[in-house]
Amino acid sequence: MFVIMNSAISVDGKICTRTGESEISSYLDLKRVHKLRCVVDGILVGISTVLKDDPLLSIRFVKCSKTKKNPARVIIDSNARIPLDSKIVRTAKDIDTIIIVTKGAPKNKLELLRANKLKIIVSGERGKKVNLKKAFEQLETKFGIKKILVEGGGEINWSIIKNNLFDELIVTVSPLIVGGRDAITLIEGKGFDKIEKCLRLDLSKIHKRSNGEIVIHYNNIKNK
Ligand SMILES: NC(=O)c1ccc[n+]([C@@H]2O[C@H](COP(=O)([O-])OP(=O)(O)OC[C@H]3O[C@@H](n4cnc5c(N)ncnc54)[C@H](OP(=O)(O)O)[C@@H]3O)[C@@H](O)[C@H]2O)c1
Repeated sequence: MFVIMNSAISVDGKICTRTGESEISSYLDLKRVHKLRCVVDGILVGISTVLKDDPLLSIRFVKCSKTKKNPARVIIDSNARIPLDSKIVRTAKDIDTIIIVTKGAPKNKLELLRANKLKIIVSGERGKKVNLKKAFEQLETKFGIKKILVEGGGEINWSIIKNNLFDELIVTVSPLIVGGRDAITLIEGKGFDKIEKCLRLDLSKIHKRSNGEIVIHYNNIKNK
């Protein structure tokens, strides 16, 4: 599976403020992201992003080709915490939606999600986080997802970086300083302890906008 990570960050690397506001980039950038959604089979986010933003994760603001339907929405959610009244659950009968849980997810909640037309993948042991590597294999083999767009947040981004599961990283840097140790950054988690162990990227493209935003494309060196 080809994995693209995309995020909007401030100059100091934050993806939202300490209170959770995440509209870091401009409408122009939002349109770019929605255009990108037109060329993928799936859009993936972590459960905290769903709980904080209640996103729809559909294609809006741009027109894709006539045959393109909304990509499947993929939520990483160990214990099936997704609220039944979230926009994602409420629209699951119209847009393919897959929840990836662990063996610890409550069976009755999974039944309720199935009743709302969500599909479930179980990947990972009770009490642990979702096993992303195995989940990605299942997304491809069971659901035909060959290209996926990861749209955060910081914890999911770290797991993907740590397991070296991505091919391309696109960041839009907005001319903005957010600050605050409690504001979430592009990559959270534990992080690397030594520079020599850090993941090195290959710069492939830069686009500068007149509003001061810069869109930067990096490739993962593993693919060279
Ligand atoms: N600026 C942007 O482009 C942008 C984009 C997206 C999000 N955001 C912001 O980011 C914030 C949320 O980010 P976040 O870092 O708190 O959370 P997140 O990455 O959205 O979700 C993390 C949660 O996913 C679940 N999870 C399950 N398996 C996992 C695994 N293997 N690795 C990592 N997580 C796993 C965990 O909860 P369980 O243990 O309960 O499963 C974990 O706490 C929101 O405020 C949102 O607005 C900004």
